[in-house]
Amino acid sequence: MYTHEDLAALQAQSLKMQGFIRRQTFSPEHEKTLRRFSSWEVSELIFKINQSTFRGRFAADPDLPGGEVEEDGRQRWFSLTEINELRRKMKINRTSLMPKRPAGKRAIRAAISNFKGGAGKSTVALHMAHAAALDGYRVLVVDFDPQATLTHSMGLHDVSEELTVWGIIARDLVHETDRMNAAPRAAESGAALPQRRLPASVRDLGLGDLRVTDFIRPTAWPTIDIVPSCANAAFVEFASAQYRHLNPDWSFFAAVSRYLDALSNDAYDIILFDCPPAIGYQSMNAVFAADVLYIPSGPGYWEYDSTTSFIGQLAEALEDLSQGFDGTFPAGKMRLPKAFIDMRFLMTRYEPGNELHRAMYEAFCKVFGDTVCKEPIEMTRAVEQSGRFLSSVYEIDYRTMTRETWRRARASFDRAYAEFRSCMLAAWDKMEDEQ
Ligand SMILES: Nc1ncnc2c1ncn2[C@@H]1O[C@H](COP(=O)(O)OP(=O)(O)OP(=O)(O)O)[C@@H](O)[C@H]1O
Ligand SMILES: [Mg+2]
Repeated sequence: MYTHEDLAALQAQSLKMQGFIRRQTFSPEHEKTLRRFSSWEVSELIFKINQSTFRGRFAADPDLPGGEVEEDGRQRWFSLTEINELRRKMKINRTSLMPKRPAGKRAIRAAISNFKGGAGKSTVALHMAHAAALDGYRVLVVDFDPQATLTHSMGLHDVSEELTVWGIIARDLVHETDRMNAAPRAAESGAALPQRRLPASVRDLGLGDLRVTDFIRPTAWPTIDIVPSCANAAFVEFASAQYRHLNPDWSFFAAVSRYLDALSNDAYDIILFDCPPAIGYQSMNAVFAADVLYIPSGPGYWEYDSTTSFIGQLAEALEDLSQGFDGTFPAGKMRLPKAFIDMRFLMTRYEPGNELHRAMYEAFCKVFGDTVCKEPIEMTRAVEQSGRFLSSVYEIDYRTMTRETWRRARASFDRAYAEFRSCMLAAWDKMEDEQ
């Protein structure tokens, strides 16, 4: 017979061996590095100009970064940093290549959420992050999922659980409790508010002293940062329930929103949240911090079914918040009930030749109307999980696979990204300045 003690002993054993096992099963070639992009990709796929115009610019301006020429080919290959320098320095028909961004506003935030497992959330988050970075945006991704798929896919491995969303939530509890305790008490009624005490086990974590940037790590992409996750962050659901009990007035669901508000407005352009397949403290924080809600769903009937229950449960959870926190919610930047500036359903793993998929897509449109993305993401072999992490079609060198497969996959993600971008830009314009 096995009890919790046996489980704990097995876990202790596993933790002791973790570093060793990782070294045994992980070779340096699995380390993520970002490839270079060919002049064909940079001109036609990234800047959307023709190759001869692009070449002409180089001939005319020796100060532009020239990339590298590979032995076998005539093409130049550029790093993302060089691409961004080109974007800053080049004008095409007197038009800047810099991406659109409303001046002075903070970054726009999108949560990619659905409690259906395997709906394509992490794949969508990864591709939208990469596409946006290639489009010239500075991106922050927040991995809310202890499965840490996005974290691994972004090339991070040794993540300590304090520096994840869990740490952000615990740090917020400390800050909010201190703020509430410091607020003037003994209102006119004479009723003093209770002093909230946090146990040493929470205070001694030292999270209260961490700076905002302590949670942010660089990735292999120079313009993408991440707040990573790790398997040990799974207990955040238990811990958060306990924290709520310690301070029932604490608006636990707004912790990440408050955290992101502390970033400077121009630190990033787009912030993307990859959510776990569950409605809990982490996904409520993601949803609450989001301006735009993106709901990926596969093309099967059961996926439609669980997407329907997802929005039902989300509606209930958001309604509970707006009732439970009425009056105790600090005025200012956050308001209840939570309102998204926009929301979209995005069909993933779609096969245009499959009649059932087409029928399902039409059903989605009938039911969810204009909130359904016009460009579903097609099923492709180009993004299948390779080993421990997902690689995006943008990361894969097109010379390593059938060019047609790569082109099709890239075109599908590009169309989905273009729609995502216009949704984000419209939401950004509507976003109130003080938010
Ligand atoms: N467009 C696609 N074409 C082919 N395979 C895909 C596509 N989108 C996702 N997949 C595959 O489906 C699987 C699940 O995708 P993903 O991890 O993105 O889902 P998820 O919703 O994040 O899952 P979880 O709920 O576990 O977090 C992965 O193996 C991924 O490679
Ligand atoms: Mg995922």
